[in-house]
Amino acid sequence: MNRREALKVAGVAAVLAAVGSEAKMLEEHMNRIEMSPKDSAKMDKGELKHSPLVTLKEKDANGYTLVEITVGQGGIIHPSTPDHWIDFIELYADDKLVGKNILEPEISRGAASFAVKLDNVKTLKAKAGCNLHGIWTTTLSV
Ligand SMILES: [Fe+2]
Repeated sequence: MNRREALKVAGVAAVLAAVGSEAKMLEEHMNRIEMSPKDSAKMDKGELKHSPLVTLKEKDANGYTLVEITVGQGGIIHPSTPDHWIDFIELYADDKLVGKNILEPEISRGAASFAVKLDNVKTLKAKAGCNLHGIWTTTLSV
């Protein structure tokens, strides 16, 4: 292969890599749709599987309350396989970001905890992102 042919091959490879990267970004964006249960009092299995469960635990000596978030309710645990997993969990206190955990498939499942000062906080909002089924939110009054 001469220099000119090598440059052509490199150019085609770069275009293919860019198209692949763009397709992956588009797929990730499409999976970022905000979802919510139709009726939070009577969630179906899919809604239970994706809705974060927010549990307040003990408060430490410095005034931080442990806020535990697991994804799945009613005994249903969201799967964590190479093709389908909870890829992030965020926690907001009165719409202010407390923190965000990025999760990897298989080695972890949809769970995170944050130590939060809840003085004057009225609501906690947990968001969980499923790589296939969108972003699910649970809001808790404190
Ligand atoms: Fe899912």
